Amino acid sequence: MPRQPITQQKIAEHVQRLGELYPPIALDSVDRTIKNPTAVADKYGHVIDYLARVELEVDRNVLELLCLLPDVDDTNKTFYADVWQPQEIQHGLILDRLQQDLGRPAAEPHLDVSFKIKILGTLANLPAIQDVAKLLYFLTGASTERQAVLAYNQINAGMVELGESAISETIITPIKQQEPGHFAFYQMSATAMVQDAALKPWQLYLTRVLREKSYNLVGTNAMDRYKADMGGVVVDLGLDADLEGYAREVGRLEARLLWANKNGMDFPPYILKALRESVDLYEERLQRVAV
Ligand SMILES: [Fe+2]
Ligand SMILES: [Fe+2]
Repeated sequence: MPRQPITQQKIAEHVQRLGELYPPIALDSVDRTIKNPTAVADKYGHVIDYLARVELEVDRNVLELLCLLPDVDDTNKTFYADVWQPQEIQHGLILDRLQQDLGRPAAEPHLDVSFKIKILGTLANLPAIQDVAKLLYFLTGASTERQAVLAYNQINAGMVELGESAISETIITPIKQQEPGHFAFYQMSATAMVQDAALKPWQLYLTRVLREKSYNLVGTNAMDRYKADMGGVVVDLGLDADLEGYAREVGRLEARLLWANKNGMDFPPYILKALRESVDLYEERLQRVAV
């Protein structure tokens, strides 16, 4: 637990600061020079495709938020409407143009809200379930933003290594500067709920059960084809060399907030399981293609 309690005031100030510090990145601020498009596409084409699609899915994420949090408060509203959505959609548009500059097809974002979310959204009209949905929403946000931070760090190192300074300096670096602030928003919001004991023990129990049953890596949308795509991202970024280390990075926050009763848990096991499943599905697909 942090020494200083996280107040709603602090979260609101964080959101305001993000809006002031990071205006959405303009498409024409990008230098579209690519020194060796073939080398970039071979090494990172798949990763860029994946990230472009996921960033463009922010519009569905907003619909999910409105479904899950029918009584969304002002801070959350300001965050998604004035900061998060405007920033993420530019990430998507910029990466989508980059993938097309690399000769790859445009992204096809999946914009349908799933049946599961709709059911949880219906139940979230009950105040006791609303708080469960809210904590799940914040944990999902923290987990996906953390994965974005890690992915952009890896890609940036790769682009520097390839000597692609325009991509690194005018695309990946500006995008990667905006992701930690998103993570911090969800982290603070989830931490405040647990620290203030907003949930009764049965609500926390329900949150754990639902989280364990519904955990998804960023952008997989609970579908095998996206899980296999994500496996490809993990492999292309070299994260498969230490899946446990990656699970620890992604899962540290929820291990602390949700599973503090399990002594010594670095990360919830469902995160590593999801990573292994994605890599397995990717390898199966490679074998099918090779046959
Ligand atoms: Fe983003
Ligand atoms: Fe983000």
